[in-house]
Amino acid sequence: MNGMKMLTLLGLMVVGSGALASADEVPIVGGHTQLSGERKEQAITLLDTTLSQLATGDGPTYKAVNVTNVTSQVVAGTLYTYQVELDNGSDKKDCTVKIWTQPWLKENGTNIKIKCEGEDGELDRTW
Ligand SMILES: *[C@@H]1O[C@H](CO)[C@@H](O)[C@H](O)[C@H]1NC(C)=O
Ligand SMILES: *[C@@H]1O[C@H](CO)[C@@H](O)[C@H](O)[C@H]1NC(C)=O
Ligand SMILES: *[C@@H]1O[C@H](CO)[C@@H](O)[C@H](O)[C@H]1NC(C)=O
Ligand SMILES: *[C@@H]1O[C@H](CO)[C@@H](O)[C@H](O)[C@H]1NC(C)=O
Repeated sequence: MNGMKMLTLLGLMVVGSGALASADEVPIVGGHTQLSGERKEQAITLLDTTLSQLATGDGPTYKAVNVTNVTSQVVAGTLYTYQVELDNGSDKKDCTVKIWTQPWLKENGTNIKIKCEGEDGELDRTW
């Protein structure tokens, strides 16, 4: 198994366990669950994988350098929301990244939205 497949598998495992809430998680109003510990680490792996997939497409190259907050919400798939510092190679920006995964779809099963402080536009890509 190569590295990329391994990462994809990890990503799917995050999603697979998305409906389960563990005891140390504090449910947030509106169905958002704040992630901590292992599930936060798995969600960050999904973030890194998705950002590298974005970079191999026509998207910008971003590296997550400081993830401060991750929440998940189960909505026909799982929606992850990250408060994260992104590094595009020349600048570091505070951004909100939303990754919506519906892993059972072969096409358009991943949507990523990136909104950064001080920027008007929002990046929105689906694959
Ligand atoms: C990560 O972000 C938090 C909140 O913005 C900040 O307090 C902390 O110093 C940052 N850590 C690093 C390593 O940049
Ligand atoms: C994380 O984000 C959630 C949803 O936006 C918010 O309710 C919560 O207070 C945040 N937690 C921290 C530690 O910033
Ligand atoms: C990084 O972001 C800054 C600010 O948005 C922009 O000016 C710069 O061109 C970007 N660099 C790359 C390599 O995309
Ligand atoms: C995926 O999205 C593209 C662009 O919106 C669309 O053309 C295509 O039909 C979609 N594929 C499926 C299987 O929905």
